[in-house]
Amino acid sequence: MDGRHRLKVWDPWVRLVHWAIVLLLPLQFWSAKTARFDLHVAFGYAMLALVAFRIAWGVVGSDTARFSHFLRSPAAALEHLRHVGRREAPVDVGHNAAGGWMVLALLLLLLTQAVTGLFADDGVLTRGPLAHLVGGAWNDRATAVHVRVFWVIAACAVLHVLAVLAYRKVLGRNLVAPMVTGSMEVPPGMQARAPRMGNPALAVALLAAAGGLVWWISTLKPASLFD
Ligand code: HEM
Repeated sequence: MDGRHRLKVWDPWVRLVHWAIVLLLPLQFWSAKTARFDLHVAFGYAMLALVAFRIAWGVVGSDTARFSHFLRSPAAALEHLRHVGRREAPVDVGHNAAGGWMVLALLLLLLTQAVTGLFADDGVLTRGPLAHLVGGAWNDRATAVHVRVFWVIAACAVLHVLAVLAYRKVLGRNLVAPMVTGSMEVPPGMQARAPRMGNPALAVALLAAAGGLVWWISTLKPASLFD
């Protein structure tokens, strides 16, 4: 090695949630388009549990998972983009100042998609487990948002992947490998910036709590489709 060091940047929980989302998103689209609503609802519950966990982990998890760690000012985000344009962006341990805002946007959009699904009702094939708790007008609103927000997520996901590719092309930095393995090579002198990893027992407890909450929500569905 040329004096470079490996740093652990992403914990297994962030990576698990990330790649599960990448898998679930096309599956949700496919199951909706092929009217496999049994699967669509199941994938939606999985997405909701993962995003709920990730938001909680963003408060109490590893340094690089925390919103307080990666949400910087809009000015810092613009400054970062200017640095990328000049090919002089610093090596970031975790999300960069611009990417952090996209992470927040994606998580909130995915949460919106999953929560509106709980209240959606297409009037024919399927209805969310909480649809009966609100009036028909709210079912319609939830359904309209649920259908449209997918395309906003898709657009943001494309932008997100283009940004990862641009990092490779413009700066020669591979961001995908760390999201797979959890660690990255850093220049000498950066080892001191090793992020603190979160407590695995807490992560398991939060994942179980998120799964339990979503399971409980699923039980609120009336026994009959016509209730
Ligand atoms: C194959 C396509 C994808 C690749 C290669 C990819 C790659 C990455 C990489 C490298 C990062 C870390 C960026 C950094 O260093 O700051 C990241 C983060 C993230 N990506 Fe993706 N991504 C893909 C698809 C998606 C999709 C479809 C979504 C959701 C719609 C998504 C949502 C996120 C989120 C929420 C994070 C933040 C992770 C966290 O902090 O929990 N990604 N992605």
